Amino acid sequence: MVGYLQWLSVYALALLWSSPAVESVEVISSIEGVYNSSRTPANFPWNTYNYCNAPHVNAKHYIIPPVPGAKLVYLNMVVRHHKRTPDNLYPQENELNAVPWNCSDLRQFSFGGGTTQIFHETVTPDWHPFLSKFWNGTCDEGQLTQGGLEDAVAHGKDFWSVYGQKLRLLHSVNEKDIFVRTSTATRTFQVAGGMLTGMDPALARQSFPVVTQPGTIDSIVPSYSCPKADAIRDAFQSVPAWTDHLEANASLKARLDATLGTTGLADWASWYDHFFDTFTSRTCHSHPLPCNSTGGCVAEADAAKVFAIGDFEYNYIWNAAQNASTYNQLTFGVFFQELVQNFKLFRSGEEKFKARLFVGHDGSMIRLASGLGLGKISPLRWPALGSEIVMEAWQEKESNFVRVIHEGTPVKGLEWMPLDDFITLLQSQVPADILSVCNST
Ligand SMILES: *[C@@H]1O[C@H](CO)[C@@H](O)[C@H](O)[C@H]1NC(C)=O
Ligand SMILES: *[C@@H]1O[C@H](CO)[C@@H](O)[C@H](O)[C@H]1NC(C)=O
Ligand SMILES: *[C@@H]1O[C@H](CO)[C@@H](O)[C@H](O)[C@H]1NC(C)=O
Ligand SMILES: *[C@@H]1O[C@H](CO)[C@@H](O)[C@H](O)[C@H]1NC(C)=O
Ligand SMILES: *[C@@H]1O[C@H](CO)[C@@H](O)[C@H](O)[C@H]1NC(C)=O
Ligand SMILES: *[C@@H]1O[C@H](CO)[C@@H](O)[C@H](O)[C@H]1NC(C)=O
Repeated sequence: MVGYLQWLSVYALALLWSSPAVESVEVISSIEGVYNSSRTPANFPWNTYNYCNAPHVNAKHYIIPPVPGAKLVYLNMVVRHHKRTPDNLYPQENELNAVPWNCSDLRQFSFGGGTTQIFHETVTPDWHPFLSKFWNGTCDEGQLTQGGLEDAVAHGKDFWSVYGQKLRLLHSVNEKDIFVRTSTATRTFQVAGGMLTGMDPALARQSFPVVTQPGTIDSIVPSYSCPKADAIRDAFQSVPAWTDHLEANASLKARLDATLGTTGLADWASWYDHFFDTFTSRTCHSHPLPCNSTGGCVAEADAAKVFAIGDFEYNYIWNAAQNASTYNQLTFGVFFQELVQNFKLFRSGEEKFKARLFVGHDGSMIRLASGLGLGKISPLRWPALGSEIVMEAWQEKESNFVRVIHEGTPVKGLEWMPLDDFITLLQSQVPADILSVCNST
């Protein structure tokens, strides 16, 4: 239902803004989303929520602001990495995979500056005494897959189709114009590499610098410690607005536990995150939902419930809960501070880059979306793989404006905001004295 409503508003906006050539609208029956393919079926609207591969800015559907003479001059863009293997494991992981995970076509290079370009491949040996704990095949936990890399390359290509070819903000893919920062997770810099390759296939044989922060204080994930934020979240996950949905879905949870062997595990009981992750990672790669060794399987209808609950939980924690905005600001304030700096640099004419690209995680995207106020328009959904937020700066005569684009579509209310107002919005998400507030309890 959420998806349907969201889509309707997107459609209304598209009508308002664009040509008469908006696609036909018959297909609104089951618009909740796609969870089993990186390709959205052609009879769905192009910007349908697709958990496996979010819609993003692309030349075919890009809407130029209806402001004569305006020129795109700068942008910051934040994306989630693309599809990967599960990040969470069942206690008896091996038996819950009908097919092995195959990553042998994704070469993982890592060679600290030497000239031998070594790469590694994960192998699960069939003689390993702990084989029951892990799936068969050549993929590690949480690893970008070849399919994920291909989606990243396509994403970069679409980025270039707009910001390189259509609008000519960028003339070539080089490190002077494009700043890239990722988290410290391998899959995020692999996605950065895939996107850069998609922007310029000739780059494929060159090196390109990507900035990371130290893992313990990285603001992208985010991974800096903030006990105050943890306490706020614990409190709002202890009230009926949260606990009711766990109680109401207790029979679903019991069925999942019986099939998957997760009974009594706290990490699987406090929210549906791990079920969501372990199901979607499989379905996005055309693996079946888990079946156990005595033939008990997760039903498609139960998976669909988990997907809906996942949306509810993400929206609650980062957007709808009482104190969610404080929680969001404390945990993402450092990243908002970086955005403030970038746009201030741009305003003062000192910004050296034309584009800044950040590759993060679902937790980065949901916090950015919430802090920018996207959740005030409609409930936020679990940020899909490849989810994208672009903050474009446009120049019109002597003034600068910012437009925010979410999953390829301009955001209502943020289509044309004076740059100063946008900086004020970003600044409003940065708590004063964040280090000491985080450590005050
Ligand atoms: C994906 O799921 C939908 C809805 O359950 C189904 O109609 C479709 O055939 C599935 N597609 C693939 C590629 O499995
Ligand atoms: C995983 O490997 C083990 C040991 O070779 C084998 O018994 C089992 O059938 C394999 N499972 C799958 C899903 O291929
Ligand atoms: C894994 O995928 C690669 C590339 O598609 C293929 O060549 C290889 O045979 C696959 N390995 C297995 C064990 O299926
Ligand atoms: C929100 O924060 C206020 C102030 O600390 C507190 O009184 C209230 O109980 C919190 N609400 C929830 C749901 O945790
Ligand atoms: C399960 O959780 C969802 C999401 O909060 C809620 O809408 C639904 O009413 C709950 N109960 C049942 C029985 O599905
Ligand atoms: C498999 O799942 C069914 C329920 O779907 C359960 O009754 C059974 O105990 C499970 N088997 C194992 C080995 O976990």
